[in-house]
Amino acid sequence: MTSIPEKRVFSSRLLSFLIFISMFFILISSSLLFRIGDNSFVPKSIYNLIVVNSVANEPKSISCKEKCPIKPVASCDPNQAILKVFMYDLPPDFHFGLLGWTGKQNQIWPNVGNFSEIPKYPGGLNLQHSIEYWLTLDLLSSITQNVPRSCSSILVDNSSQADIIFVPFFSSLSYNRHSKIQGNEQNSTNDILQERLVEYLKGRDEWKRFGGKDHLIMAHHPNSMLIARWKLGSAMFVLADFGRYSNEIANVDKDVIAPYKHVVRTIDAKKSPSFEERPTLVYFQGAIYRKDGGVIRQELYYLMKDEKDVHFTFGSAIGGGVRTASTGMSSSKFCLNIAGDTPSSNRLFDAIVSHCVPVIISDEIELPFEDILDYSKFSIFVPASEACKKGYLLKLLRGVKKEKWTEMWENLKQIAPHFEYEYPSKPGDAVDMIWKAVSRKISSLHYKTHRKNRYNRSQKFLNAR
Ligand SMILES: *[C@@H]1O[C@H](CO)[C@@H](O)[C@H](O)[C@H]1NC(C)=O
Ligand SMILES: *[C@@H]1O[C@H](CO)[C@@H](O)[C@H](O)[C@H]1NC(C)=O
Ligand SMILES: *[C@@H]1O[C@H](CO)[C@@H](O)[C@H](O)[C@H]1NC(C)=O
Ligand SMILES: *[C@@H]1O[C@H](CO)[C@@H](O)[C@H](O)[C@H]1NC(C)=O
Repeated sequence: MTSIPEKRVFSSRLLSFLIFISMFFILISSSLLFRIGDNSFVPKSIYNLIVVNSVANEPKSISCKEKCPIKPVASCDPNQAILKVFMYDLPPDFHFGLLGWTGKQNQIWPNVGNFSEIPKYPGGLNLQHSIEYWLTLDLLSSITQNVPRSCSSILVDNSSQADIIFVPFFSSLSYNRHSKIQGNEQNSTNDILQERLVEYLKGRDEWKRFGGKDHLIMAHHPNSMLIARWKLGSAMFVLADFGRYSNEIANVDKDVIAPYKHVVRTIDAKKSPSFEERPTLVYFQGAIYRKDGGVIRQELYYLMKDEKDVHFTFGSAIGGGVRTASTGMSSSKFCLNIAGDTPSSNRLFDAIVSHCVPVIISDEIELPFEDILDYSKFSIFVPASEACKKGYLLKLLRGVKKEKWTEMWENLKQIAPHFEYEYPSKPGDAVDMIWKAVSRKISSLHYKTHRKNRYNRSQKFLNAR
């Protein structure tokens, strides 16, 4: 009788152990497979692998009172969305084509399911107005499998079923990058696109239905849509402020104010420097303006330049400036937001994500989401006329003691995620907040229409007799 050599005993035991282990895993994974919830096509085990990171980083939003999903789902349930959106299939010249993107023949939209196929928006100052890009990407992802996102809005392919008609024109980029007349052309690309857009929209049944009132047009750069804004003024605009608009074509009743995309880096709420860790009392860095509302910047400069805990410099916040602005804002207690050539600027949003309490000296400013956010809980407003009185501003700011400041700082840390543009979108981020703001405007639009209709029915009954 030959006994089995030691080595073979070992390997056959190992083998059965391995078989046992694999059986175990097969059982486990198939049980997961059969527990696939809802209407997702992706096994939950794989799905968790894909989304687990984004769940972990999810900002703790304070305004998730509306329908926020408990966990992200692979594709959105149309009944869950608060906003059904119909998007025109405008040719790429109007949107991703402006980023140099070319798809396959007849391809209108990039595949947003594969992150490396998504065209990049140009950096630097262009980014401040990139709202058009984030909103469009978000809509596309609502009909793309496996992109976990906030489900406030969803694309529908029948315009009669939509709450809003989305016009995917990257107007800010068109202004920033394509306003110059090239070679012997007569008109710039930016002008031509606007003319084409007006012609296109005015010919659509969707536009004629409510005279464009239920159309959403993005014009975040104050100089974007300079030609078309006059012809499309009935639509709902997404704007930075109303500084360069007449009141009939842009106003708080119908339009949505969206935050600038901040250019400085976001401070982690857990590592945010506290009162003592911010040696600078007041921080301001910006361009010096000689026209419009900008005079106040110079006046304040002369009032404050000799104070040792005040940082007040003129210069662009771009290039190396972004890094110094990041460091400067996060080591300051207060950050000035002074009207420049327009009432708003990205500086306010840079201050918010640096958790530097904004001091807003801009009488005409419009603030994003102000119907649900009380800015006085995390900012200080100073009328321009007061700010320019000698000693006024510094006395006011030095009077804000540690306890009061810390309260505002805590609030800033809470609301800062509302000002992040992200792809994919998350509940409570800037993209999600904009859709919710649009949905609130839509209800007030319906309200007004319904009131107008009150007596129409009875009129018809009378005429029928
Ligand atoms: C995503 O796109 C990149 C670049 O086009 C490509 O190399 C890659 O294979 C794509 N991935 C998937 C999963 O399709
Ligand atoms: C679009 O929706 C409307 C109203 O629900 C319906 O009457 C129409 O048939 C739909 N059109 C298509 C092409 O499905
Ligand atoms: C070009 O600009 C001129 C003058 O601004 C205007 O009259 C003309 O209609 C424009 N042409 C096109 C093709 O937009
Ligand atoms: C109802 O009447 C008002 C005022 O007479 C008018 O503006 C509105 O367009 C009418 N609505 C419909 C649905 O006919």
